[in-house]
Amino acid sequence: MDEKDMGADLERVLVTQEEIEAKLVELAERIDEDYRGQDLLLVGVLKGAVMVMADLARAVHSPVKMDWMAVSSYGSGTKSSGVVRILKDLDADIAGRHVLVVEDIIDSGLTLSWMLANLTSRGPASLEVCAFFRKPEAAKVDIPVKYVGFDIPNEFVVGYGLDYAERYRNLPFVGTLAEHVYGGSKPT
Ligand code: XMP
Ligand code: MG
Repeated sequence: MDEKDMGADLERVLVTQEEIEAKLVELAERIDEDYRGQDLLLVGVLKGAVMVMADLARAVHSPVKMDWMAVSSYGSGTKSSGVVRILKDLDADIAGRHVLVVEDIIDSGLTLSWMLANLTSRGPASLEVCAFFRKPEAAKVDIPVKYVGFDIPNEFVVGYGLDYAERYRNLPFVGTLAEHVYGGSKPT
């Protein structure tokens, strides 16, 4: 699919590439400040956080390490249930380390609460979260998210790592898809 085709699938751009770039700089400055003199491990949640991890890691000036985790949430279609299975665990032990989980988007927050409980049990020195996008539902649940990129409306979005049926992850901005893409069953 070329760029022209992707363009035809989009309904509306919610966050532009320029806004994403500016936000990365802002978050990176805070992270540099907060972790000054400490060894920081960024834990990216596959696959959605690939873009934000790669860009955030380059925007910070601190020498970070990176590790990855892949989880799958059992649920119907696009809604997560909170029952989570680890598809790929971290390569390294995080006991005694400063860990920052980098997430693409928090919706219900169920996936993230499970992950935080799981990671806490491994005894990190500190554990914080950076979520690049957050939907309104997430603000209702009590999960400590230290760094939030953008609060977005409760709509299904794609781009900058986020997909619909594995497509659109490579869009450099975030937007909603046109009705015709879903064939009548729009995810929420
Ligand atoms: P919960 O509800 O557990 O789920 O916070 C978070 C995960 O659900 C996916 N998700 C989305 N993926 N566009 C996407 O491409 C969206 O609008 C969206 N909302 C939630 C995503 O995998 C996230 O990690
Ligand atoms: Mg995700």
